[in-house]
Amino acid sequence: MVADLIKDRSSIRRMSGEIIPEEKINILFEAAGLAASAHNAQPWQFVYVLREDDGWNQFFECVVPANQRWAKDAGMLVVVASHQEFVIGDEVEKNPYAVFDVGAAVQNMALQASELGLALCVMGGCDKRNLRVATGLSSAYDIEVMIAVGAPEFKPSGRAQRKPVKEIAFRGRV
Ligand SMILES: Cc1cc2nc3c(=O)[nH]c(=O)nc-3n(C[C@H](O)[C@H](O)[C@H](O)COP(=O)(O)O)c2cc1C
Repeated sequence: MVADLIKDRSSIRRMSGEIIPEEKINILFEAAGLAASAHNAQPWQFVYVLREDDGWNQFFECVVPANQRWAKDAGMLVVVASHQEFVIGDEVEKNPYAVFDVGAAVQNMALQASELGLALCVMGGCDKRNLRVATGLSSAYDIEVMIAVGAPEFKPSGRAQRKPVKEIAFRGRV
């Protein structure tokens, strides 16, 4: 049986504009930080604004128009970045797993949001160049995606279709 939390999560884009309580925000980032990562490097970094913050407009302007249409009602916008190097022994090396690990952290966050009754949707559609200016993230980090989080106004029934297990998992050889 697949866990209910995994089955229940979906990308929710209909948000009410309500503020997200600070304690829920902390729980989301705590969940993200509990993800596994190569050499426990924890390459994730999150920079966020709440809709009442001065920086909201600058972040929001980095969201592509198609996403702005619904993300305008989010309570929080998060920029997700991955540190591109890690320390192995005494050496600083390129971390080839950084984006993999950051994806796991984002999934933790998405599952936690679902359990807290929050709406969350990842947005690849954003202007990374302007986000670098808005966030102050150094070139040591790649900017991966933004995330919109908010109070759900409406949870769509059903889910985006998935490939059957036999199309994604193969024993021995494809
Ligand atoms: C890396 C990534 C980028 C995404 N970018 C967008 C986006 O720009 N706009 C959007 O509306 N949804 C975006 N999504 C959400 C996907 O469309 C969604 O996860 C997919 O359709 C499956 O639906 P589900 O999350 O409800 O299961 C993105 C998801 C991921 C993981």
